[in-house]
Amino acid sequence: MTQKRILLIVGGGIAAYKACELVRTIRKAGHAVRCVLTKGGSQFVTPLTLGALSEDKVYTDLFDLKDEAEMGHIQLSRQADLVVICPATADLLAKMHAGIADDLATTLLLATDKPVLAVPAMNVRMWQHPATQRNVIGLRADGVHVMDPDAGEMACGEYGPGRLPEVERIYGEIAHLLSAPSSGIAAQPDFTEGKHRPLYGKRVLVTAGPTHEPIDPVRYIANRSSGRQGFAIAQAAAELGAEVTLVSGPVHLTTPPGVIRIDVESAREMLAEVEKALPADVAIMVAAVADWRAADEAEQKIKKDGKSVPPLALAENPDILATLGKHEQRPALLIGFAAETEKVVEHAQAKLAKKGCDWIVANDVSGDVMGGANNAVQIITKDGVESWADAPKDVIARKLMEKIADAVGQG
Ligand code: C5P
Repeated sequence: MTQKRILLIVGGGIAAYKACELVRTIRKAGHAVRCVLTKGGSQFVTPLTLGALSEDKVYTDLFDLKDEAEMGHIQLSRQADLVVICPATADLLAKMHAGIADDLATTLLLATDKPVLAVPAMNVRMWQHPATQRNVIGLRADGVHVMDPDAGEMACGEYGPGRLPEVERIYGEIAHLLSAPSSGIAAQPDFTEGKHRPLYGKRVLVTAGPTHEPIDPVRYIANRSSGRQGFAIAQAAAELGAEVTLVSGPVHLTTPPGVIRIDVESAREMLAEVEKALPADVAIMVAAVADWRAADEAEQKIKKDGKSVPPLALAENPDILATLGKHEQRPALLIGFAAETEKVVEHAQAKLAKKGCDWIVANDVSGDVMGGANNAVQIITKDGVESWADAPKDVIARKLMEKIADAVGQG
């Protein structure tokens, strides 16, 4: 099975410690897991433990997302392939069934459009209470997968159903749901306020900005790129309803609303993050990736001795676009950018074939396009060339995303 992403919500109960073992099991199986700890859950396990085991940031409260773009929690809930609640307390089940969203965990559960697996663990009386049973029946009717707890002796000394199932059984259920065709709570496209969302449900991956290739701790090789065109494209994609992941090199720009942003420095880091973000329906590689890096990065600052200039040996960087072009998870629509100073169309056409992409957006950078507000582009596809007049980068971005939506969207 290819790597999947699991969002694990750890509720407040004595069984929370077993969530740690579940994280290890999921990681061992080769999947990524990102943890959300409720207030109650943090009484039993620490963010530090879950963070170390998951090798990812642990989210503990809505407050955590304050510096992210508006809708950060929505994106968090949708980035995953599967949402797992373990342990699912009586309180979480009740809130979820009622649609209450008063903390990060319950907000994510209300916002997600992915399959949800709830693994209950609680005192036997609480499990058997008509209120809990009503909630479980209601949640199952909504499409939530609620496991039956194990029966046996409980931490509180009582006996009966309510124990957290063995981790192996929980993982079995996870593996089953990950391999089954998506059976989540049916989420409806949002057509409120007459918003046009032709990319609803599509995953769009964008790279932007330059990459920095270290020579020593203080110096680097870079390309001249502000990231503005890529950020404008990510924003336009989100506005058309797509789930957008933006992998960005070092830039001075704020994250567009609703976009998941991953910051990287070097080309090799960018490639790793791009591959992690797959699968995607559309990938638009706007980044000005440095073609070369220093063959040997010096651990200490290279000193001037006033006599000789240090030699700088270069090594070739991976070509991210070309890698995607022959990737087993190649996006259905793969778009590259080409900054050229001469013979723009001719060079772009050659690039289309060389990199295995579907379209090339070519621009003449002999003027002041780099870092400027405007851009004039030509779209090269196998069917021909379209020339778009000079326009602000956000206008170009919207026009490009409309064209993409026509090609892959729901109209
Ligand atoms: O070959 P050139 O750098 O002109 O190709 C430009 C296109 O290829 C852009 O879409 C850019 O993001 C992508 N590229 C890449 N990895 C590289 C070099 C370029 O993804 N190492």
